[in-house]
Amino acid sequence: MAAAPPHAEIPILAELDLVLETTRLRLRAFRESDLEDIWPIVSDPKFPAQMTWVAHKGQAETRAYIASAATALADNTGVRWAIEYEGKVVGTIGLHVRWQIGALRVDRAGLGYWLAPALWGQGLMTEAVQAVVRCGFDTIGLHKITVMCFADNAQSRRVIEKAAFRWVGRAEDDVWRDGKWHAHLLYELTAPEWPDVHTTMRVQRPTTT
Ligand SMILES: CC(C)(COP(=O)(O)OP(=O)(O)OC[C@H]1O[C@@H](n2cnc3c(N)ncnc32)[C@H](O)[C@@H]1OP(=O)(O)O)[C@@H](O)C(=O)NCCC(=O)NCCS
Repeated sequence: MAAAPPHAEIPILAELDLVLETTRLRLRAFRESDLEDIWPIVSDPKFPAQMTWVAHKGQAETRAYIASAATALADNTGVRWAIEYEGKVVGTIGLHVRWQIGALRVDRAGLGYWLAPALWGQGLMTEAVQAVVRCGFDTIGLHKITVMCFADNAQSRRVIEKAAFRWVGRAEDDVWRDGKWHAHLLYELTAPEWPDVHTTMRVQRPTTT
């Protein structure tokens, strides 16, 4: 069966209810006061090694980063959620939305995320990704969500695979970082694929009992 066409009107992100609750997390819009929670993470020089940005050198940069989330929402080009866990902001997850390429509708978004290192390995980002993918398809009305990671980013790769994204390919020598070219692994999921795969997504780590 042919996939459904795009919505006749491009959805307006700022008009949607985008606060997401999961078992352990609350995903909501960033606030200026979140600076205190995220500054120690984003200013750690080693932290962004697997991402496309470098550590923030001053708090003005972090303030601008927080403010840019509201700008993207207003421009209808993205949603960036603050991830709240036990009352603190411990990370972020976002959809960088593109509705058109030239005159053609694409209704797609690129997914990105990071989490405070102290909380890695507990399935938290997988939980956030599942909620955001569901929101992307069911609430925002996207047709496709793409995600990519450095080829040697084993943790992110697992998150993507647990969320049942389909492997698209490997882009060699895709970005220059820290003195060498890095390959990217590319994945995607379309709206028609989503109903089949979301039941197989593994949100929690398996228990040993
Ligand atoms: C990627 C990131 C968000 C993962 O968050 P998380 O909450 O730890 O993710 P999860 O716990 O849901 O899943 C991590 C998986 O990686 C696995 N893993 C951890 N270290 C690993 C390693 N060295 N090799 C292989 N797998 C590894 C974990 O065992 C887990 O898989 P499992 O559930 O099958 O056991 C986090 O590591 C992070 O913020 N990294 C830095 C930023 C980043 O890389 N962002 C993504 C850019 S594409």
